[in-house]
Amino acid sequence: MPFISFEGIDGAGKSSHINWMADWLREQGCVVVTTREPGGTPLGERLRELLLHQAMVADTELLLMFAARAEHLAQVIRPALSRDEWVLSDRFTDASYAYQCGGRGIEPARLSILEQWVQQGLQPDLTLVFDVTPTLARERLRAGDAPDRFEQEQQAFFERVRAVYLTRADAEPQRMRVVDSSQSLAVIREQLRRIVQPVVDKAK
Ligand code: TMP
Repeated sequence: MPFISFEGIDGAGKSSHINWMADWLREQGCVVVTTREPGGTPLGERLRELLLHQAMVADTELLLMFAARAEHLAQVIRPALSRDEWVLSDRFTDASYAYQCGGRGIEPARLSILEQWVQQGLQPDLTLVFDVTPTLARERLRAGDAPDRFEQEQQAFFERVRAVYLTRADAEPQRMRVVDSSQSLAVIREQLRRIVQPVVDKAK
């Protein structure tokens, strides 16, 4: 069954769309696993705590993201796909390209080595990129909890992260779809239905 990842800069609002989509798919009889990165496993969640709150250099950050991802693939994603279940993941490897390459300046060729090592060809079937300007995203975040290491970054960091998402989506239009996340909830959901319904029909 399909593997769908949800992406976007912090404050783009993707998390609420995952829950809605999981419910919508279940109403249509799909068996759905929702999960997240970094995280999704007991070890992954411990790594997430470190990644969000402990200072570290960019290479360590990238390697820990992929360590959590290796565990996530082995314990959650691959088993669910082999049970013929849908997987909806709040972030996957596009986030590493966007944040660690775009945001932190790591060479994409280095990340690509880890991607091949850890994923061995496995990619999401569909990636939804929730796109907003960093200015709007920041306003949304302001209402939330104390900011983590990523949320504390400056606007220029998020401009670079966003630019990588949009460039990747341009380069891979079959897999990646950009959703304008500044629109109303109703309009976004309608767009999501239009994008995902053909995937449901194909999977039946
Ligand atoms: P979240 O706030 O969407 O749960 O994601 C946690 C943070 O982790 C978010 O600021 C983006 C960051 N992140 C990366 O920098 N690289 C990655 O590969 C992933 C999966 C997340």
